[in-house]
Amino acid sequence: MKILQRFTRFLLPAAFVLIVSPCVLADAKTEYESKCSACHGFGIAGAPKPGNTADWQTRMAKGMEVIYSNAINGFTGNTGIMPPKGGFTDLSDDQIKAIVDYMVGGR
Ligand code: HEC
Repeated sequence: MKILQRFTRFLLPAAFVLIVSPCVLADAKTEYESKCSACHGFGIAGAPKPGNTADWQTRMAKGMEVIYSNAINGFTGNTGIMPPKGGFTDLSDDQIKAIVDYMVGGR
């Protein structure tokens, strides 16, 4: 029985992390494509496109925390308005962060 307890206590969480983390990334791509790409895919109102390194580098100079917070709370930049969570308030803060990481990475 001890072995079984160990299994559930350590191996299951480990397996969970291993299986779930790549899913979160894959999920971020899907969420980006279905929700954020409407503006960000075409650069509407200056929305930074994933893979547009120059644009993201200027923004990243503010620090990633500011970028996350702007994506979560919304902000008005030089060219347009980013609505809070892009208008998709059902997304959690962590989901937004994962999507932003995906966008910045441009993958
Ligand atoms: C209605 C159009 C629209 C949608 C939908 C949208 N965005 Fe934006 N977003 C913008 C615009 C416009 C900007 C740029 C504003 C500027 O810099 O003037 C922006 C900027 C950003 C930035 C840069 C913030 C910064 O600090 O420079 C991030 C990150 C971002 N959006 C994330 C997201 C995510 C994640 C989603 C999907 C959940 C999303 N956006 C959906 C319009 C949109």
